[in-house]
Amino acid sequence: MTTPLETAFADVEDADIAKIPGRMVIVADDTGALGPLARKVDRLTKGAVSRLTTSAAFGKAKTGSAHVLAYPAGLAAESLLVLKLPKKATPAEARVAGAAIAGFNGAVPLHVLAGPLATAPELALGLGLRTYAFATYRKVEEDAPKPNGQVTFHVKDPAASEAAFAPYAAQIAGVFFTRDLVSEPANVLTTTEFAERLTELRELGVEVEVLEEKELEDLEMRTLLAVGQGSESPSKVVVMQWKGGGEEAPLALVGKGVVFDSGGISIKPSAGMEEMTMDMGGAGVVAGVIKTLALRGAKANVVGLVGLVENMPDGKATRPGDVVKSKKGDTVEIINTDAEGRLVLADVLWYAQERFKPAGIVDLATLTGAIIIALGHEKAGVFSNDDAFAGAFLAAAGNEGEGAWRMPLAPAYDKALTSRIADIANVGGRPAGAVTAAQFLQRFIEPGTPWAHLDIAGVAYVNKDTDLSPKGATGWGVRALDRLIRDRYEH
Ligand code: BES
Ligand code: MN
Ligand code: ZN
Repeated sequence: MTTPLETAFADVEDADIAKIPGRMVIVADDTGALGPLARKVDRLTKGAVSRLTTSAAFGKAKTGSAHVLAYPAGLAAESLLVLKLPKKATPAEARVAGAAIAGFNGAVPLHVLAGPLATAPELALGLGLRTYAFATYRKVEEDAPKPNGQVTFHVKDPAASEAAFAPYAAQIAGVFFTRDLVSEPANVLTTTEFAERLTELRELGVEVEVLEEKELEDLEMRTLLAVGQGSESPSKVVVMQWKGGGEEAPLALVGKGVVFDSGGISIKPSAGMEEMTMDMGGAGVVAGVIKTLALRGAKANVVGLVGLVENMPDGKATRPGDVVKSKKGDTVEIINTDAEGRLVLADVLWYAQERFKPAGIVDLATLTGAIIIALGHEKAGVFSNDDAFAGAFLAAAGNEGEGAWRMPLAPAYDKALTSRIADIANVGGRPAGAVTAAQFLQRFIEPGTPWAHLDIAGVAYVNKDTDLSPKGATGWGVRALDRLIRDRYEH
């Protein structure tokens, strides 16, 4: 488990500033103006800070950028970072500025002189999210800097900052849980290991059930089982219930958890196949949200359901052309065994509705390469049968700075899913591949149930650093959904 940065909030006495060890961070606004603590540091350094903040370079620098003064005279600190942050910075700007501090974190303690700055908890959130590395399988090199596990924010009202930061700490832990799951290789994160890691959420008060293959057969989840039948790892469905609300129907979060997607008999080309260890990203996000809700004691009822399977070629594997009956009762012709995510989700979605009669459903899946062609790695695709529900999600994602874009659904696309012999085919050809995948899923949603499908194939795992995440697993969606729940389902 990757441990989040230990974050503390403390007072600061003016007289102690010169003695603060390690690395110190101060803030200047976009006009170069300094707050009371930064002014004190400026005096101690005999004007070094104001030389920087009145320079042309600082004037041109971006909001949220960080500027280093090394071995400053007059301070015990070995270096000083000046963050450029407008007085009225939005929470999003403050989080990005906080993330800029992450590159400055080293082997020595980090002290951020935030003073009266209202956005101190946001800075801490950005810093916390960005300070992530999946180092489980790396030998730490002798001379590589060891990141320090601690930061102290010196603020005017530590208790208030602490209280504001508590739900953010829950988000960071939830996001790290997701990133760790997504980063794990498939020989470690088998379906069994995945289920075990979810079972650990019981310690936080989550009710966790693991449905084994036998039960899935009894429940007639045959399209899900068809995906996993070529693997040595048993298929499982894990149900995680967070009951923080009253008697109201829960929000259901449903995740695709394909621990490895080889394509099955419709096998994928070998180039890049290793990245298909991230094909459980949807399930990873569901797990991260549930962890966040439990850690912050959310007053809402939310149930997470994940379908855990491995898609492998084998003598027992599903073949192209096989016809399988879904839990709903509709038969599916499996034209392409690589379109497996929708087969997993179809049964879990139906089960979620039958059992929980949810107030709304959000499913998350690394479902199609086509969504990456449409939206790249910047935004996830949002498909929904309900404008208000979609709007609420898009607003939550916008507030958290997680890219999301509405995509269409329409009956006209259903034609592409016509099967030769069954009720529906599992692929609809290349045109609008992400939309026909969503249309397939919609067939397993009861009309009238607010539903959003998030195709996260492009955003769950990226090859470049983002503002709040190092390259690799991002944890995209954990904060947007946590926010949606806070805004719409808590009381
Ligand atoms: N897991 C893949 C989608 C994917 C692609 C996720 C790239 C992340 C990065 C999914 O199961 C898949 O293989 N989809 C096929 C569907 C096709 C056969 C209709 C695809 O997108 O090519
Ligand atoms: Mn596939
Ligand atoms: Zn897949």
